[in-house]
Amino acid sequence: MNEVTQLLKSHRSDRSYLDKPIDDAVLDDIIETAWRAPTSVNSQQVSLVVVRDAATRARIAEIAGGQAWIAQAPVFITFVLDMHKSQMAIEAEGKQQIAHQSLESLISGSTDIGIALATVMTAARSHGLGVVPIGGIRREPQAMIELLNLPELTFPVAGVVLGYVDQPAEQKPRMSLAGFRHETRYDSTMLPEVIRAYNEVLVTHWKNTGRTDGDNWGNNTASYYQHIYFPQVLPAIVKQGFGIDK
Ligand SMILES: Cc1cc2nc3c(=O)[nH]c(=O)nc-3n(C[C@H](O)[C@H](O)[C@H](O)COP(=O)(O)O)c2cc1C
Repeated sequence: MNEVTQLLKSHRSDRSYLDKPIDDAVLDDIIETAWRAPTSVNSQQVSLVVVRDAATRARIAEIAGGQAWIAQAPVFITFVLDMHKSQMAIEAEGKQQIAHQSLESLISGSTDIGIALATVMTAARSHGLGVVPIGGIRREPQAMIELLNLPELTFPVAGVVLGYVDQPAEQKPRMSLAGFRHETRYDSTMLPEVIRAYNEVLVTHWKNTGRTDGDNWGNNTASYYQHIYFPQVLPAIVKQGFGIDK
């Protein structure tokens, strides 16, 4: 272990924040780490929108389904999948961008966003800040697009809350490493036992943290995955000019 791996392994999502601003120099340092992150074919198809304004954060909290921590913490960053910049550069050369018509671009762009998001979270935590990633903005993507003035060929994939923590969260247990790491070939034979054991671990975690509504992993995940979780993503992403059928 070293300091970096220790920091990464201490990850937790915090949802309780102090009303304390983040210095500009700290925020700049954090954002520049994601700016240096790799992107597929150097496409740089990630853009960040930093929101510090309280009224805008309150609106994002509402869009995300009433997530109070978005309004409470001083900074919210939206990670935008951005093929607007590449389209501009390609058109300036008298050529035509086609890639945004393909599902592959959504995978590569979302991968790049995941890297940038993880980088921001690590950098923020190294500065003593708490973080929580936010996919809830995809609950009403069109509202986010309008709120942030996002142009065609962009899409708000995820966000992150940054702030100084008030009540620290307990670290949430994971299923055992046997359900995560495979050697050479994927092996699912041990999964029923891994899942059974994790169901118990998670219920105990909820009890220890005072969550009376906490359920096991199967039921907890079913509460999201028994239906299409964010059905407004498809119409909004198509309206932004992306294709999904190639
Ligand atoms: C892409 C992504 C989107 C997420 N969206 C939300 C969200 O909208 N609201 C929230 O409170 N937590 C959100 N989370 C946090 C997860 O719920 C959390 O990572 C998971 O329960 C594990 O807990 P931990 O991060 O404390 O270990 C998100 C996490 C990821 C990676």
